[in-house]
Amino acid sequence: MCGIVGYSGPQSAATPLIEGLRRLEYRGYDSAGIALGVSGKLFVAKKAGKLANLENALDSSLPIVHSGIGHTRWATHGGPTDRNAHPHVDNDGKLAVIHNGIIENYSELRTKLEIRGHVFTSETDTESVAHLLSDLRKEHKGDLAAAMRDAVNVLRGSFTLVAIHADNPDVVVGVRRNSPLVVGLGNGENFMASDVAAFIEYTKRAIELGQDEIVTITPTSVVITDSDGKLVTPKEYEISWDAAAAQKGGFTHFMLKEIFEQPKAVADTLIGRLSDNGQIVLDELRMTAEEIRSLKKITVIACGTAYHAGMVAKYAIEKWAKIPVEVEIASEYRYRDPIIDPGTLVIAISQSGETMDTLMAVRHAKAAGARVLAICNTNSSTIPRESDAVLYTHAGPEIAVASTKALLTQMIAVYLIGLHLAQANGQLSDDQVQHLYRELLELPGKIEQILETVEPLRELTRSFSENNIVLFLGRNIGYPVALEGALKLKELAYIHAEGFAGGELKHGPIALIDNGTPVIAILPAGHEHALDEKMLSNIQEVKARGARVIVIAEEGAHVEGAEHIIRIPIVPALLQPVLATVPLQVFAYEMAVARGNDVDQPRNLAKSVTVE
Ligand code: G6P
Repeated sequence: MCGIVGYSGPQSAATPLIEGLRRLEYRGYDSAGIALGVSGKLFVAKKAGKLANLENALDSSLPIVHSGIGHTRWATHGGPTDRNAHPHVDNDGKLAVIHNGIIENYSELRTKLEIRGHVFTSETDTESVAHLLSDLRKEHKGDLAAAMRDAVNVLRGSFTLVAIHADNPDVVVGVRRNSPLVVGLGNGENFMASDVAAFIEYTKRAIELGQDEIVTITPTSVVITDSDGKLVTPKEYEISWDAAAAQKGGFTHFMLKEIFEQPKAVADTLIGRLSDNGQIVLDELRMTAEEIRSLKKITVIACGTAYHAGMVAKYAIEKWAKIPVEVEIASEYRYRDPIIDPGTLVIAISQSGETMDTLMAVRHAKAAGARVLAICNTNSSTIPRESDAVLYTHAGPEIAVASTKALLTQMIAVYLIGLHLAQANGQLSDDQVQHLYRELLELPGKIEQILETVEPLRELTRSFSENNIVLFLGRNIGYPVALEGALKLKELAYIHAEGFAGGELKHGPIALIDNGTPVIAILPAGHEHALDEKMLSNIQEVKARGARVIVIAEEGAHVEGAEHIIRIPIVPALLQPVLATVPLQVFAYEMAVARGNDVDQPRNLAKSVTVE
């Protein structure tokens, strides 16, 4: 939520700033702005709307200077206007600041600053920081880092702040609290950004910043201190993502590219997970077999799409490892006094590793004594850093706001955990585990098969593009698939879409069915349980009331009452979500295209939601 980038080095700063913002636009696209380090008085440009609006407003008068800061906004305080766009500047026009997060005591600060004579021009919480820093910097005789240190001790809330001052334009200062900021170490140039994607084109070396740490960059130096001014030894790491992975690579949208990257993402997440003696290798869990045997309960916490991976975890882990699993929306978790004891393993699932609701739930669980395992796609992000252990998925950068490949790899991660636990506590034999693992290894090829035959589905989808309601039905492990299908459609097509457990249909949702209502039913994999018959009855029930039914069914499964059947390859029942989700992603994608919506940046959404 809100993308931040800072630069100091030999390049004309506008280039890495605008490029960085383009890579971070998934974090918010209500407005964009930059401040360039012109000596004497900063150059500031900002525009409501997408980054393209800002780019169009920048003409040839753009100063060639070598430092600056840039911001792309997801609005919280103050509407998405030019005035409320970041950077915010002090009354001297010399200090500019950008912000991600919420300053909770902004109103109290604003009153005090106005009494001191500061004139505010926006409705944002951020502007109070510009004025505050301006005063503090004067008190510290021009030392912006010292001013930032003092500000951190005054500010409440969550924030990443990055500031620059015209009197020392080479110096860019940043800080983070409960919100992301990483430093990129270049050759004679340095960067800071919300996410490494902003600078991977220039460097693969990064430093992670701790809570309340203040970083000062110049072209040749990076200095980090804590909020007391004590020097901090930087924790450097190598970025494994490839710069090309953050480009569209010939696809019309990032989402489509990411859908097609799923076979590779799944395969990468599975690499090296079976030892020569047939054991699932999951050293990242950091749990002995004895600790696994003493587990009493698993609680999965997550938001949005990741929550659906959590539901898949419940079905798989309970079935294989016979450990009770509850799944909870992260934002609800800590407010209801959940029962947590040392026998509880909390699994936090998050693509970004920065979702504030999930992070707060992690902290709550840890404080109450639970062991926390993160499943995450983003190296060194906050949730894995604060968890006891982390299992990284290997989806690579996911740029489209609507999550696709991250979800499939999250499912793979929970399957691996389920198999590992079941092997360790003896609920599955080695043979059973190896058989299921071999089935997992076949998933990339099967996803590819679905993607190769997706064209008729795209055509079919377009015939539904005028509909304003679509319902999804699933049973058992098909239920989270139905929920995900509906979520994707809401996010992308802005259609009223709901997912239901097939059995619940008769308890209310069936009243929604009218002549022509599209219903997408996921037929459970037929070979492991008899639920498919019940779903076939549900299909008849909705058809009898006028629904147009599309069925997702495995090859060879008997289907009646469907207007269209989308076939997917045969897999063991619990693995079916990995395949059944794919046509639903394509359906939502195509609907968005047909309705003329912005696929990669749907309205009102942001990919990484760093406010509660
Ligand atoms: C946002 C995104 C969703 C995502 C959710 C959780 O709401 O728009 O696509 O599923 O956050 O994100 P996370 O990074 O924690 O998986």
